Amino acid sequence: MSPEDSDRLWIRSSIGVVVGVLAFGILSGFVIMPVVQGAQAGIDPWTAICRALGISPGSPAAQQPRSAASGVPVSNVIWSPQVLNTLSSAPADAGRELAVGVCAACHGELGVSTDPAQFPNMAGQSSAAIYKQLHDYKSGARINDTMQSVVQDLTDTQMAEAAAYFARRARPPWDVTWVRTAGPEADRLARTGDSARGLPACESCHSPAAAGPVETPVLFAQTPQYLSVQMRAFKSGQRRSDLFGRMRDVAGKLSEREIDMLAQYYSEMR
Ligand code: HEC
Ligand code: HEC
Repeated sequence: MSPEDSDRLWIRSSIGVVVGVLAFGILSGFVIMPVVQGAQAGIDPWTAICRALGISPGSPAAQQPRSAASGVPVSNVIWSPQVLNTLSSAPADAGRELAVGVCAACHGELGVSTDPAQFPNMAGQSSAAIYKQLHDYKSGARINDTMQSVVQDLTDTQMAEAAAYFARRARPPWDVTWVRTAGPEADRLARTGDSARGLPACESCHSPAAAGPVETPVLFAQTPQYLSVQMRAFKSGQRRSDLFGRMRDVAGKLSEREIDMLAQYYSEMR
């Protein structure tokens, strides 16, 4: 073989290798991979190829749903200056007539409930939390037959006055025989959360000193039954009027055991 022949062979095989690599790259990058990945994402082969070539827009990655719970109907509470003003400075007894005449049958005249496992205590609860829930029952954002029929005909002002009335009642009396039974695990979740699971500390919103959302309820003096029912309702999405799904996100990450543990922990909080 002459040196010229050897050069020619060398050039030809190099061109062959380059063309082969290019063809393989084009085939796998623009045809094989888009079609295989597109099939997994439910996209037909032609669309997948067009997307890979940049002819049609869109990425094959489907958007992941955040929670199975539906977001509607949502709360339409408005924190207007007028509402906030009524909540903080309603005349001392403006809401008394309504509270004593209507609410007392279940929540007690002084906000200490007649059957706290079913009817939450109201005394000392945050007025914004009470008002938000009444508003949600009225708009149908929070579902409960009893409470929805109670609030049906109430005006915003009446709801705000009843909320202010109950918020000013003294909290249920301290039981001197009280013993703390909730263990350190509940305490850790409540105070520091679990960053590995993206679970914020309950106290970052629920502590009276935290700058949490204005409608955050104070968690104390409720029974473990009531608290666990509410956490499970957030977890399942049955209760879904919490703004931005804050409590649904938290409750969705809690195990059944943790819900019971935290319900016990907060029922012992005074
Ligand atoms: C016939 C009994 C009954 C009457 C009367 C009643 N409630 Fe209720 N209330 C309930 C029950 C039961 C619940 C729990 C409902 C649920 O799980 O959504 C509740 C829940 C609430 C909540 C939500 C509390 C929370 O922690 O989320 C508020 C606020 C409230 N009631 C305020 C009132 C006010 C104010 C009145 C009077 C205008 C009133 N209720 C009258 C039975 C009653
Ligand atoms: C990002 C703030 C935030 C964090 C963190 C948070 N919560 Fe809440 N929580 C809220 C808000 C806001 C509400 C009221 C939701 C609504 O509008 O219905 C609520 C409601 C609740 C209720 C219902 C109370 C009632 O009276 O109806 C329970 C029980 C509760 N939270 C428990 C917990 C526990 C336990 C944790 C920790 C594992 C926790 N929350 C963490 C903001 C938070």
